This record gives sequence, C-alpha cells and structure tokens, in this order.
Amino acid sequence: MPTKEKILVTAALPYANGNIHLGHLAGAYLPADVYVRYHRLKGNDIVFICGSDEHGVPITITADKEGLKPKDIIDRFHTRNKEAFEKFGMSFDIYSRTSQLIHHETAKEFFLDFFNRGLLNEHKSRQFYDEKAQMFLPDRYVEGTCPKCGYDQARSDECENCGSLYDPSDLQKPVSKITGMAPVLKETSHWYFPLGDFQEKLVSYIDEMNVKYGWKDNVLQYCSGWFKDGLKERAVTRDLDWGIPVPLENAQGKVLYVWFEAVLGYISATKELGISRNQPDLWKQYWQGDDTKYVAFIGKDNVVFHCVVFPAMLMAWNEGNAGKYILPQNVPANEFLNYEGLKFSKSRGWGIDLQDFLGKYNADSLRYTLALNLPELRDTDFYWKDFQARHNNELADILGNFINRTLTFVGKHFENKVPPIYQLEERDKGMLELLERYPEKIASLIESYKIKEASLETMNLARAANKYFNDSEPWRTIRSDREKCASTLNICVQTIYTLAELFQPFIPFTSEKIFRMLNVSPTDWDNCGRYTLNEGHLLNKPEILFVKIEDSAIDSELDSIKDATKRGEKEPAEETITIEDFDKIRLRVVEVISAENIKGADKLLKLRIFDGYRERQIVAGIAKFYDPEQLKGKKVIIVSNLKPAKLRGIESQGMLLAAETIDGELKVVHPDDNSKIGSRVK
Ligand code: 2FM
Ligand code: ZN
Repeated sequence: MPTKEKILVTAALPYANGNIHLGHLAGAYLPADVYVRYHRLKGNDIVFICGSDEHGVPITITADKEGLKPKDIIDRFHTRNKEAFEKFGMSFDIYSRTSQLIHHETAKEFFLDFFNRGLLNEHKSRQFYDEKAQMFLPDRYVEGTCPKCGYDQARSDECENCGSLYDPSDLQKPVSKITGMAPVLKETSHWYFPLGDFQEKLVSYIDEMNVKYGWKDNVLQYCSGWFKDGLKERAVTRDLDWGIPVPLENAQGKVLYVWFEAVLGYISATKELGISRNQPDLWKQYWQGDDTKYVAFIGKDNVVFHCVVFPAMLMAWNEGNAGKYILPQNVPANEFLNYEGLKFSKSRGWGIDLQDFLGKYNADSLRYTLALNLPELRDTDFYWKDFQARHNNELADILGNFINRTLTFVGKHFENKVPPIYQLEERDKGMLELLERYPEKIASLIESYKIKEASLETMNLARAANKYFNDSEPWRTIRSDREKCASTLNICVQTIYTLAELFQPFIPFTSEKIFRMLNVSPTDWDNCGRYTLNEGHLLNKPEILFVKIEDSAIDSELDSIKDATKRGEKEPAEETITIEDFDKIRLRVVEVISAENIKGADKLLKLRIFDGYRERQIVAGIAKFYDPEQLKGKKVIIVSNLKPAKLRGIESQGMLLAAETIDGELKVVHPDDNSKIGSRVK
C-alpha cells in the first residue's frame, strides 16, 4: 500500500465586496478543487481551506457608496459567494470569514509576537488625508499632477509617466478619488515589518522548492522581479476604522493592514474547522506538521503576498517560537482569464456573475470549459461560442453519447445487466490497456498542476471509447456473434465506470449521475480501471446527461454583452484643438538603434534612435514592459519637435508614442514595417 500523503490546500480568500466571476474561478478556485478532489479519491489526508476576506479599504468604499455599514456588505457577499461556490461544486472543507473572532485573535497573536520581539519598526510619515471622507488615503486613491513632467494622473509619490519619485507634498493639484476633494497632508505613524531582512532566506526557500517540486515559470519570474528590486520594509498597519484593531495602547484608529492578516486567515479557518470537528488541535497537524505538504492556489495578482510576504511572516514566527509553521511547497498561480477578449470589469459591467450563469447553465459544462481554458501559462479567454461548442460537441456528443449508446444497448439486448466477457481480441485488449493506463496518466498531470491537459486527456479517453464502440460494431455482432458483442459491451460498461471515476475532479455532478446509472458507488482512484463491475450487475435506466445548448441562447448572451460594451465608462471630457494646433506637433517614424536600462530609474529606458537625419536620445517610461533588446531595430513613432527635457537627470530629445493595454501595460506604437524612416505621421 502506498503511504497516504497529508496535504493542506488553500485557495485565495476572495474579498467580500463583489460577486465571484468566471475569472476568479479559472485563476484559483477550479484548479484547486480539481486538485483536492483528485487527492481525496487517492485516499490522501487533505484539508481544503477558503473563506471571505472581509477587511480592507475597498469594502469601506463599497459600503459608503451604498450608505451601508461594512458589516452589511460583507454579510451580503459572504453569503452570496459561499452559495455560488457551492453551486459550482467547490468542495471546501470550510468557507470561513476573516471577521471571525478566532481570526482576529490569530492575527493579533502574530502582530504581538513580532512587536514584543522588537521586530517591527515604528515610523512617522506624512500621508494624504481626505477630510470629507475622514480617512487617510491609500496611494491608489490619490491622483494629481506630476511636479516633473506635468502628467495629470500621477500617484501620490510616484509618476507612472516619467518614473519620478517625489515627496507627496510636491504632487500638484492632488485629488481624492473617493470624494473628489483636495486631500491634506497629515502626519501619522505606523509599524513596519522588515521584509528586506528576509530576502536571502526567501531566495533560498524558493530555489529549494523549485528544485524539489518544480514551481511555475510565471511565479518564479514575478518573484525574481521583486527580489531584483530589493525587498523593503512594509507597513503592517493602516489608519482605518474597519479591520482588526492594532492591539497596542497607543494605536487608536489603527488596524492591521489587510494583507498582513488575510493570509493568516488560512490558519484561523483551519482552527475553526478543527473546533467544528471537535478536534481543536487539528490545525497544528496541518500547519505545524513536518510531514504536511502545503499548496496555495491563487491568481497572479496575489503572488507577492503568498511567495514573499506570507513565507517571510511564517519564517519570522518560526525564528522566535517553538511551534514551527510549514511554508508553501508550491504556489501554482494562474494568469488571468478574460471575457470575450476584454478584462473582466465591474465598473464597465463586463463579466458574468456566477450565480446568474448557474441559474441558466450546467455547472459541469462551465467547469469543463474553464478547465480546458485555464490560464496556466498565459492569459486566456472565455468565449460563449466556445462554451457552447464544448458543451454540445464534447460533453454531449462524445461523453454523453458514448454512455447513452452503451447503456441503451445493454438495456435492449442484455436485460440491463453487465454482459459476460468471453474471448478478447486485439481491439478489446487495447481498450482495456487504455483503461489501466489512464488513472496513472491523469494523476501525474494533476499532481504537476497541468489541470488543463488533464481535462483534455480525460476527454480523449471518451473519444477512444466511442471509436472502440464504432469499430467493434455491436449492432452487427449482436446478430452474428453474441459472445463477441457481450464482450464489447462489458468493456464499454467498464469504460463508463472508469470515465465516471476519472472525470470526478472535473465534472463531479455528472460523475455522480453516471454512478447512479451504473448503480454503484465511486471507488478509490487506484481501484478504477478494468473489470470493476461484475458480470450480471444490474444497471439503472440511462438518462440524458447533456441537453444541447441552442444557438438562440448563445446569441442572446452575446446580445446582452453588446449592451454592456455600449454602457461603457464615462467618456472623459477633452478640450478640442484646431488643426493648426495639431499641425505644430511633428510625429515621425524613427528607428531604434539601441536601448538600455537606466541605473536607479527602473521604469525608464534610454533609446538611441535614428530620425532619418541624425541620431538622438529618447528616454521613455516603458522599462517595466520591455527588455531593451526587444526594441532594437524596430521602427517606432516619436514626437520629434518636443523641447528637450530631463527625466531623472537624463536628457530626452523627443517623446515616444505608446498606448495602454487593457491590462494597464504600455505598448509602443509601431508603424508599418515599410514606412520610411524620418517620414511624418499625419
Ligand atoms: O485578491 C483578493 O481577492 C484577496 N482578497 C486575496 C486574499 S488571499 C489571502 F491572503 F487571504
Ligand atoms: Zn511625471
């Protein structure tokens, strides 16, 4: 008997101020659920933890907008999201919430441990304060004009356009994005966690895990980006009246920073699970057991918190305490899923609410479509047409059809009983070998987090099964060779059983129905394969598993999203200019001769370009989005008659044109390859 593994799985705690959408499911939740369901079938000892993240500024803002208290908002969305997850088949052992007392206690315990051991530094700083909203403003809620380049959407201490860093007091015309009022600068003091002190240990931890367990490239890249920039201390408290109060006497009006405590929510939720099972120490078995493997499923936007911040916090705890926490063995973060080519956006009404979706369509059809489209390596899209095709052509026509034709045949010709098996021919042996090989094959894909390929391969078994049925021609052998026909159908029924077992992690509701039709219970993963059902075993009546989705239903979904694009965001007011004004601006095609990073200015690239007459130097704020080498030899467009200006002390003799993508990245505008260097863009 192989030894059973002890596994702890967490899925990111979603904020309780909005509905779960398909992007969330593909990013973290579906892969986590497939992984957990598979391990349960393997008989491993696994707990699956999730819950609502109920603190943070966005929740207070949603509440203010609706004239409600944060508690009303979190109660509403916690209940909604919990229900939506259930309908989608998420098999959490617990779906907790960070407003629970046990969580407050756990988070305070960590803070106080760090504080008492002198790990946290207290600093004073001046931060923007919105007097109308009566709150300090986090960076992303302040906008103003850059003191260096005049860009009018600069953040409080950093300009995205020119890469300058400045003191917030130098930001011109600051505006609070919450009330639209000008904020004032006010002194405040906070406690900082020395993240930089853990950089070396974090680098070796990630290296070691990667060598042993193979971390995903995208995750490693995000981490090395953070390490390259150098980790700095981070404030772990905020001035806010919603959250976990800082447990110190001189800290009125201050709460723990949401990211400091949310990650600890995984631990408190496990504690709560143990209490509900009458095993108060259960959490220790998982979190502090050397033999436990911990896997954290998240979307790419959460990588730094799970691969850098959380492990550093656990290391900090472990350095000063007897009970030592384990660190994630793997963090298989996914990229983003988009919706019909665009990023999900609540404000633009671009997305599908899960509850609405499941009110109309089968959860398993969604699980299957998403599984085949998981953004494991890069961003992917959910398209309605693809959803329809997966449902109709694969779930209904391949899987559903194979099961239906087999069971109908057995019902008609073998009194609904598993037929006996006689002499095996090559084709029969081939099919049985497949059944024997498949559980291992799918297992190894799931264990290496290749959930997409695992779902594709499982459907390939159903494809092979249909082919086996067709090639064996039971409708002919039932008259010419009944024994051969019986053997074929026996193997087909065994195949259905194996399919039901292997499909369980992906489409659990359907597997349940198939087991009912087969009149059996699921078995362990390792027991499926050949001859699980005995000759003479009585089957139940088949039912249709997937009713086809009509074109009209999909057309109406597509019509409704057209309305959403029309609704759009409010068009910004723009001052008009005359053609003469425009004529003053010289846009020219130029060629990039070389490009290089600028030391100390990690957002800027220095380009050497040829404008058709002479070489010159341009500085552009695109370093975050391009390797210098990518631009070499490329034709680009610049404003060529702009007065030279210095960016971070380096002269720029013109300005490069770039446009923002839907993901907020800057992409350089390239003219046609044939365009002439030096020619004017009109
Ligand atoms: O991105 C989010 O939705 C966060 N609420 C995830 C938190 S994960 C963990 F820290 F709890
Ligand atoms: Zn600027």
